[in-house]
Amino acid sequence: MLLDTFGRQAVDLRVSLTDRCNLRCTYCMPEEGLQWLGRSELLTDEEIVRLVSIAVTDLGVTEVRFTGGEPLLRPGLVAIVAACAELAPRPELSLTSNGIGLARIAAALKAAGLDRVNVSLDTLDPEVFRTLTRRSRHQDVLDGLAAAEAAGLTPVKLNAVLMRGVNDHEAPDLLAWCLAHGYQLRFIEQMPLDAQHGWDRSQMVTAGEILERLGTRFALTPEPSAARGAAPAERWLVDGGPASVGVIASVTRPFCRACDRTRLTADGQVRNCLFATGETDLRTALREGGSDAEIAALWRAAMWGKKAGAGIDDPEFLQPERPMSAIGG
Ligand code: 5AD
Ligand code: SF4
Repeated sequence: MLLDTFGRQAVDLRVSLTDRCNLRCTYCMPEEGLQWLGRSELLTDEEIVRLVSIAVTDLGVTEVRFTGGEPLLRPGLVAIVAACAELAPRPELSLTSNGIGLARIAAALKAAGLDRVNVSLDTLDPEVFRTLTRRSRHQDVLDGLAAAEAAGLTPVKLNAVLMRGVNDHEAPDLLAWCLAHGYQLRFIEQMPLDAQHGWDRSQMVTAGEILERLGTRFALTPEPSAARGAAPAERWLVDGGPASVGVIASVTRPFCRACDRTRLTADGQVRNCLFATGETDLRTALREGGSDAEIAALWRAAMWGKKAGAGIDDPEFLQPERPMSAIGG
């Protein structure tokens, strides 16, 4: 099992399949993109499946989420999903995507064994979308969402990041729209994980503000806290339920105590936290012919070193070197 010294067990594996993306969200990447990982640095499809297999069969992982960058840019995605769906015990399989291209591939992903998707959409306004992501692809995302719903990749979850003065006025509209479409909406506080280090605590739209804005149109009542479990989102029933809305307050109300995640980067490094400053290299062991037991031992040691919390709000907080797009959400 993947345990740490604070009694937590990681059962939720996030696998980044590529650090590349076809959007340039301002809270994530600079306009010109980043220095992408080279082909030889990236794990192959077979290497990814081998590591996921070790996680599932030897280390107690029960849930696997594919992320990026943008995971739909990975040519082998459907085959990777299919191979992971064959593992025993079969893990839950989900995908976090910006939605572009999902319309074309949603049915194939479902057939391969994918259970659910999380799609990132921060605005209902195509112009605001272009400002936020620097690309005119709003309709592609809407089409992707509809296709995911139609393919049964449900419940379709939607992630939204609010940026002050850009889309923060849209919070109630986004919720109304998600309720109308049957999508589950979760707001995420902007985190200091952008490549250009532009995050500013004083500019961040806090969970408190998000709730205040939603409260102008909806009556929100907290879901019983027992329901939160290891899920980072705190959920509120909307107008008495059953629909709900989530807020992931990584900065103002961190959930590190209940964290059950372990992360694998596209170049084969284990990270025990989004905000970890170190990582553990599995790729070298893999390519030097390490056994499953040896790789599992490295992974266990990586998680054993997990810190109590990320401490984003601490004055000593240091942003990790790798940006979010190269870690996976
Ligand atoms: N802060 C908060 N959320 C972010 N995401 C990407 N960068 C950040 C950031 N700096 C979100 C994306 C996506 C998910 C993987 O993480 O919008 O929904
Ligand atoms: Fe791409 Fe996601 Fe970063 Fe936006 S936040 S640029 S969609 S990786």
